[in-house]
Amino acid sequence: MTTLDLLDSPWPNGAARDDAGEMLLAGVPVTRLANEYGTPAYLIDETCFRENARSFVAEFTEAFIAIGSQADVYYASKALLTKAIARWAHEEELHLDTASGGELAVALAGGMPAAHIALHGNNKSDDEIAAALEVGVGRIVVDSLPEIERVAQAAAACGVVAPVMLRLTTGVHAGWHEFISTAHEDQKFGLSITSAPGEAYSPAMTALLRILELPSLRLVGLHSHIGSQIANTAGFVEAARAVLRIRADLVRRTGFLCEEIDLGGGYGIAYLPDETPLTPGEIAPTLAQAIAAACVELDTPVPHVSIEPGRAIVGPAGITLYTVGTIKPVTVSGADGETFTRRYVSVDGGMSDNIRPALYGAKYHAELANRVSTATPVLARVVGKHCESGDIIIDEIWLPGDVCAGDLLAVAATGAYGRSMASNYNLLLRPPVIAVRDGDARVLLRRETVADLLALDEGVGQ
Ligand code: LLP
Repeated sequence: MTTLDLLDSPWPNGAARDDAGEMLLAGVPVTRLANEYGTPAYLIDETCFRENARSFVAEFTEAFIAIGSQADVYYASKALLTKAIARWAHEEELHLDTASGGELAVALAGGMPAAHIALHGNNKSDDEIAAALEVGVGRIVVDSLPEIERVAQAAAACGVVAPVMLRLTTGVHAGWHEFISTAHEDQKFGLSITSAPGEAYSPAMTALLRILELPSLRLVGLHSHIGSQIANTAGFVEAARAVLRIRADLVRRTGFLCEEIDLGGGYGIAYLPDETPLTPGEIAPTLAQAIAAACVELDTPVPHVSIEPGRAIVGPAGITLYTVGTIKPVTVSGADGETFTRRYVSVDGGMSDNIRPALYGAKYHAELANRVSTATPVLARVVGKHCESGDIIIDEIWLPGDVCAGDLLAVAATGAYGRSMASNYNLLLRPPVIAVRDGDARVLLRRETVADLLALDEGVGQ
């Protein structure tokens, strides 16, 4: 058995090939998985998820103890959540970030203690706020002035004091795609730390002062999330400094010191073989030292720090397994006027199980999984089975020239934002999530069935 070339690859740690060339995940041959569970299927290497979680917890704990502080890691469950994943997260000492009543319910059902859960959202419903207060979540991250009043009223009505964080807009622009960059000024999240001309207070300071006035709210911290799939630490450091400045400003104005700052998620991962993302061991000390230095400058104690990685924990642990169907050579003319042949390789899923290429132009890497081939590589485009020409999973990839219908194709690094953003477009059935570990596989989320589709449909009426 040979492991895939792990150092510069986006495959999970548990991915390997046997002597015949078939891909295994955590010791389970992909043909066995395809036969048992069908394709397309999301496969999650449970050990890889746990190792990623452990590495964040260990590195952040160590780096923040070194500066006389503490750190908590909240798993951003929007990346992928099932009951079992909530359980793994709890077992690995992660806390958990939710952004809806649905995520909250699944996290609780998986056994994540409410006190370790954060509720986010720029437009939380009354039901979501009530549910969070009822179960006693550790924090509600408030996102606007009206929401501060709504949470305060809901808490007063329940006879509880709600622990709240305020989401700040730091003005730091990071992230690899506009849609997932979240802390620049002109977008819907948080409250700006910058005062408008002629205003004494920034929107964020106004909100903080209001929170401190309300007896049914307890301000537990300041929150910043700057974006996603971020490749370096500069943006996080800049945002941390901005958050610490407003924390110090609040102390100056009111004497109130926020115990905690949350710096959100956004740590990038490798999608392609030549990408080398930062590791928690590189990120944590950089952040800790920057925070310690800023606190000395600002003459404030170092805060408790939390972070919210989603993609970096589950993304690399997941692959999608497809079966190849129709293959079609298409003659196209290149920019230089020369014609060439592009091999369209259709698989049995597409934009309904991975919307990221269509939505963000995200790039992925794939390999033939049921076998290796020495056939001369051909320039291929991996496409889905939807009624859209933009239903492309990989725009350009060299695949063995003998790739044929019935082959299995594995796409790497699909663990985050694949199943969680999946749809029923063309009424395709959303694929299952299968966990593999130590030679065994089990279903975390079953494949949807036609019966599921029909059960939601209330019928033809009179
Ligand atoms: N915390 C907050 C408040 C967030 O909004 C997010 C992601 C995270 C943490 C986790 O970010 P991560 O560590 O996973 O990058 N659908 C997009 C990503 C959108 C992320 C939205 N918020 C994608 O497929 O790339």
